[in-house]
Amino acid sequence: MTTVLVTGGAGFIGSNYVRHLLETEPGAKVVVIDKLTYAGNLANLRDLPSGQAGRLSFHKVDVADAPAVAEVFSRFQPRSVVHFAAESHVDRSIHEPQVFLKTNVVGTQVLLDACRESWKVSDGWQEGTVFLQVSTDEVYGTLGPEGRFTEDTPLAPRSPYSASKAAADMLVMAYHNTYGLPVAVTRCSNNYGPYQFPEKLIPLMIRNALNHEPLPVYGDGRQVRDWLHVEDHCRALELVRRRARPGSVYNIGGGTEMENIELVKLLVAKLREVVADTAVDEGLIRHVTDRPGHDRRYAIDASRIGDELGWRPQVAFADGLERTIRWYIEHTDWLESIISGEYMDFYEKNYRDLAPGRAG
Ligand code: NAD
Ligand code: TYD
Repeated sequence: MTTVLVTGGAGFIGSNYVRHLLETEPGAKVVVIDKLTYAGNLANLRDLPSGQAGRLSFHKVDVADAPAVAEVFSRFQPRSVVHFAAESHVDRSIHEPQVFLKTNVVGTQVLLDACRESWKVSDGWQEGTVFLQVSTDEVYGTLGPEGRFTEDTPLAPRSPYSASKAAADMLVMAYHNTYGLPVAVTRCSNNYGPYQFPEKLIPLMIRNALNHEPLPVYGDGRQVRDWLHVEDHCRALELVRRRARPGSVYNIGGGTEMENIELVKLLVAKLREVVADTAVDEGLIRHVTDRPGHDRRYAIDASRIGDELGWRPQVAFADGLERTIRWYIEHTDWLESIISGEYMDFYEKNYRDLAPGRAG
């Protein structure tokens, strides 16, 4: 059995990836470490099929806590690490950059050191051993109306969030060049799908529209994002984890570029149809003060991962968006437990602590 360490596995993409891995890799044992910040939610990992739940273990660990991370490595000896754990929201990074540096940069360095120590790379590495850094297209900065980011586009991050991710990406490559650590970096465009924290555009708009609350669109709303369903991202990550050349970088993107205002109008129209509620209306849209330093446009050239690993997005945007809307409608309890803050008590009340060095 191969053991895969997933950091940040209680968050949006991490939890979708854990489900994907358990389902598609019956030989994999999955060890999740997550600090359970406001963005981590153990409910995201509940209700797994019984044959899969037994292959998953969860540990409440901060990736920047070197002794705790070292203990996880010595106990489970993972051969691959898929590193999602991060502070991930641009707006929060504008108000509180410190925690972004601690988690996204120092946390990545702590994990890289744990891999170096555990994998003894000086003896040559084994096939299948990899540190996969899950990164973002935002490290490339912003685009004008033309062109797309390739893997050779210079890094030019413009928010504290993207600067911290770019720093981490560079550290990952530095550990490859300096110590021979087998690494891969992926840079993906905006994801959408189930279990996304409702501070991000799509779930926030769905939740507010369902409650007939204002829909805040930053500035003129003409900023462009390239949307990808989280399932397509997870499929890409799994291909990279299993087949990437050490030291490689792959862009991942859906090729679905859309202005925010167009997307919000589309969401309102689809939601109105699905819930048959005429109060869900474009009249709820409010143009509010723009995000400082707001990146205008992101667009990804994903031809390398297509050519080398055969990856293509499989979820058509219209279908993915409708499924996502229906998921949030069917999971209003999940949404509301976040809004009320109740989800934060779940670990304390219900979870048997499996943290290293503690009873479990
Ligand atoms: P998220 O905010 O939903 O989840 C982050 C998870 O990391 C949470 O479970 C949180 O508790 C955990 N975490 C935070 N700090 C931690 C720490 N110090 N130690 C351990 N765990 C910690 O984020 P997401 O949207 O799922 O993004 C996951 C990764 O993918 C991030 O690295 C992000 O940069 C990257 N990414 C996200 C997108 C996107 O559109 N959401 C796109 C490209 C790349
Ligand atoms: P977000 O989901 O925060 O992702 P990112 O900033 O990483 O791209 O935002 C997506 C886009 O939507 C971005 O251009 C900012 C915009 N936005 C709004 O207009 N209103 C909102 O309330 C939010 C959260 C985002």
